Amino acid sequence: MSSTPIEKLCRPCTLEIVPYSPGKSSAEVQAEIGPIEVTKLASNENPLGPSPRSVEAMRAILEDVHIYPDPASTDLVAALAERWNAPVDGIVCGRGSDEIIHMLGLAFLNPGDEVVYADPPFALYPLTACELDANHIAIPAPDFRHNLDVFAEAISERTKLIFIANPYNPTGTINTAAEVAAFLDRVPDHCVVVFDEAYYEYVDDPSYPDALEYVRQGRRVAVLRTFSKAYGLAGLRVGYGMTTPEIARQLKRVMQPFNVSIMSQVAAVAGLADREHVEKSRRMVIDGRLRLYGELDRLGIFYVPSQANFVFLDAGVDSRALFDQLMRRGVTVRTGDIFGYPTFIRVSIGTPEQMTKFTTALEQALVALGSRIQAGG
Ligand SMILES: Cc1ncc(COP(=O)(O)O)c(C=O)c1O
Repeated sequence: MSSTPIEKLCRPCTLEIVPYSPGKSSAEVQAEIGPIEVTKLASNENPLGPSPRSVEAMRAILEDVHIYPDPASTDLVAALAERWNAPVDGIVCGRGSDEIIHMLGLAFLNPGDEVVYADPPFALYPLTACELDANHIAIPAPDFRHNLDVFAEAISERTKLIFIANPYNPTGTINTAAEVAAFLDRVPDHCVVVFDEAYYEYVDDPSYPDALEYVRQGRRVAVLRTFSKAYGLAGLRVGYGMTTPEIARQLKRVMQPFNVSIMSQVAAVAGLADREHVEKSRRMVIDGRLRLYGELDRLGIFYVPSQANFVFLDAGVDSRALFDQLMRRGVTVRTGDIFGYPTFIRVSIGTPEQMTKFTTALEQALVALGSRIQAGG
């Protein structure tokens, strides 16, 4: 394929990157099919929104935004260290946990180094590897889970970063404490293992590992969490990594100055203190998952039991056609084709009302598509 003059100037490794596509926004849906209330269950957001305490904290500093933020996010780091009993000098805040993933790449990856992750991956892992000209070792997840035995076998001299999304996006599965312990025993010293716990707050499986304990023990491990999900602050972009002080020192070297906005810092500190709000979000998701399983069982639809605020299900029809039918009924989801599962969709858990709207729309959409699933099923 011939390249344009600008492409010839670019670093070749960037040319294979496909820009991230978030799916259709509510405004785009309305522009396409007219005025309709759109229920967005496509991006694993929190429909309860932020804690009122976060909102109040942001209001209180509205007139101070001419001042650059604290570049070290000192108050937020202190609050996180206390909340999670983690070393203060091992905590790094970022513009979403996305930015911490990127910092890990910048700190550790030379061209040709290897990054190991599950296939399908969370988009930021291959993106970071591509940007830095690292090699991708994508490990298939045939039963919707990370197979950590295969991960361990894939590690080579050149492996630097290993990403384990726990829970795993897009399927919602977890790896257990026993699996993680056995895996870490097999990881050599030249690798950093990253536990991406973006959905940590929604886990209720008692076999879930305490990955942070490995950080406390000084292992070469980083635990990533976010305020985008259970704290309802996705629009502010704030996440964090908890790791050893030694690793954190390297991340701070590549961190952009003033990376976390003043609004994000105060909202996150206030949100962290509002345990009740997080508990409300957690309850909504755990109850919502169970109710959705009941509806899917009734319709005879296969789903992957999830520990996150989304469920990956096999509707048995083309996921893009199903997306279109759901969209016409005012619901958006993520299509499974982007993850290599063309008949699956990933639906975020919303409020009970939103989930009723989803299951009603799903049933109608499947009938419209001539699926064997029958209304009233
Ligand atoms: C597995 C996983 N990791 C990280 C993130 C990034 O979250 P944020 O950058 O909003 O903190 C997400 C967001 O959807 C995710 O699904």
